[in-house]
Amino acid sequence: MSVMIDQASQLRRIVRQSTRATVIAVTSGKGGVGKSNIAVNLAIKFASVGKRVVLMDADLGLANADVLCNIDLPSNLSHVISRKRELADVMVDGPGGFRLIGGASGLVRMIDLSDYDRQRLVTALAELEARTDVILIDTGAGISPNVLSFTRSADQVLVVTTPEPTAITDAYAVIKVISRDAPDRPLSLLVNQVRQHGEGRLVYERIAKVARQFLSVHVMDAGFIPSDPEVPAAVRRRSPFLLASPRCPASLGISQLAMRLERGVAPSLDGSGGFFNRMSRWFRK
Ligand SMILES: Nc1ncnc2c1ncn2[C@@H]1O[C@H](COP(=O)(O)OP(=O)(O)OP(=O)(O)O)[C@@H](O)[C@H]1O
Ligand SMILES: [Mg+2]
Repeated sequence: MSVMIDQASQLRRIVRQSTRATVIAVTSGKGGVGKSNIAVNLAIKFASVGKRVVLMDADLGLANADVLCNIDLPSNLSHVISRKRELADVMVDGPGGFRLIGGASGLVRMIDLSDYDRQRLVTALAELEARTDVILIDTGAGISPNVLSFTRSADQVLVVTTPEPTAITDAYAVIKVISRDAPDRPLSLLVNQVRQHGEGRLVYERIAKVARQFLSVHVMDAGFIPSDPEVPAAVRRRSPFLLASPRCPASLGISQLAMRLERGVAPSLDGSGGFFNRMSRWFRK
């Protein structure tokens, strides 16, 4: 019996060593659609099923995953960029068992970084791949060189929108730019703050149809998350809703999303050589 357990644990170790993390970039066109809340709670969900999860708050202008988790960060990505810290030193334990790399709110704009510093950051992140199952990147809103550098580095891009017409047009614009920038990157759409039955599906179908017709891009369906008063209540408490209210509609939406991502709503690109190689390719451009 103990031999079998031994073999099983050995096998698990080998499997772990031979796999690399799935990198999921959470992005949007319009700001304030729910990216950070989704990224934090999705990180908690994945961690709750035993995955090693790192959430990187790459919204370097308006980073706030630390605020949502009520964490005081002694240091963050800006210290890595300015070479005062190593990436491993700025990672902190988040609630529910994921690890957080805090963003550099208002201090540094990645757009101003030299290629050398960008490469240092990406190399450090790439080293994480081997020791992590899921890397979630909260990219911040809109289309900028920063955001594109992260969507380009991801295995899959999750575009978040709400049913608002402005969010929908901005989501389409982001899909257009990302699909031109990285044509092979699997894209999926998540509709957040859905208020009526069927609304999420309707929004998905509208965007997917236009993307198919005008961009020849296949946008996958990541589902929806209902509008739920528990979300703003949790933000005010600075405690993620999945922990405080695991059965609330938004929490159930996060569980469904995690399942869809795991089942491969946007399958990872096997053989693409990992985060590091993809980023290196980009730097050689
Ligand atoms: N499913 C939901 N139901 C109700 N309110 C929500 C939901 N999702 C997000 N919100 C509200 O929307 C606000 C914005 O959410 P969040 O900060 O996660 O968006 P964001 O896309 O990360 O914004 P930014 O672009 O500024 O980074 C939050 O204050 C939250 O209360
Ligand atoms: Mg945010």
